[in-house]
Amino acid sequence: MDIAEPTRPGLRPARRGRARYAPALALAIVIAALLASTPAPRSAQAVGRLPSCDLGDVYTVPRGYDDWSVTLVDRLLRVEKDYVPPDLVNVREAGIPGGGRIRAVAVDDTRAMARAARAAGAPIGVWSAYRSYAEQVQIFNGYAQQNGRDSAITYSQRPGHSEHQLGLGVDFMSAGGGNPLPGDWATTAAGRWMRDNSWKFGWVNSYPRGKGGTRWNDRTCLRYEPWHYRYLGRAVAAEVHRSGLTIREYLWRNHTLLDSTGRSAASPTPTPSATASTSRESTATTAPATPTARRTTAPPTANPTLATGSSTSTSSGVGAPVLVAGLLGLVGVLALIGRAWSRRRMR
Ligand code: DAL
Ligand code: ZN
Repeated sequence: MDIAEPTRPGLRPARRGRARYAPALALAIVIAALLASTPAPRSAQAVGRLPSCDLGDVYTVPRGYDDWSVTLVDRLLRVEKDYVPPDLVNVREAGIPGGGRIRAVAVDDTRAMARAARAAGAPIGVWSAYRSYAEQVQIFNGYAQQNGRDSAITYSQRPGHSEHQLGLGVDFMSAGGGNPLPGDWATTAAGRWMRDNSWKFGWVNSYPRGKGGTRWNDRTCLRYEPWHYRYLGRAVAAEVHRSGLTIREYLWRNHTLLDSTGRSAASPTPTPSATASTSRESTATTAPATPTARRTTAPPTANPTLATGSSTSTSSGVGAPVLVAGLLGLVGVLALIGRAWSRRRMR
């Protein structure tokens, strides 16, 4: 006995449905084709070798205030004098002892980190946080007068080059413990806890010990500073931790849009912008007359990948939209053929 397939009330015959939806499909094809004509973002990558530790003055790219997680400063790369993060708040908002300000973007993770450190019996505090360009001038000049410039530049960044000016560099201390600089802070309970756990909360030590012991690390271009941490956000911090690279190496390779000579290198369709310029202060002809930090929250280049720090990309500039357009096109053509065929049969 034949068992008839049960009919499903409410469903119209397929042939009529295809014909009815053909105009909508055609519209979808047009929209998909428009989407396909928009190039997909390319990945952010430094071009060429990691630069040497030579001193220089090149405006880092990216450096929009929204690019905080991937903005690199080092002995070569810097920000402008008037780079002042717009969202500085007192560190007490993060429930951590000490003084100074950090960017609001770091507050929640810093609060969670301080709580976890306390729970582990290794309470942390803040010794030094945000420093303006002018404050870094005072600090650097003070060290230079005290110990000579050649010595100062091995442990103090020149003004414009400090993570403290980003509002994301913090010298931590043991809560109630005072100055963390003498001795090796990484051997204290708080220092050890930070070394092992801070990355889980978005913080990474910027200046770990190198082959040169405490005196020099040519992967960071600075002396060992077990107390100095940089907030990168949890995603980037986890990538840096997994990579085994220093922050400088990781950001240079994956997010900094300059080549090793300091030329802007990666925006496929450059947008005129203060953040896309580069300069060497020693070369008067190429230095911008009035460097200005970005005040907007817009990404600094035409590449939207950079604003988020995402490394997702396609290299060809076309991707999923093309596939969608192709599939929709095929369906649309089939629907039109079906409609024409049914009309012929009805005639
Ligand atoms: N002491 C660190 C390196 C700074 O000056 O930013
Ligand atoms: Zn520091």
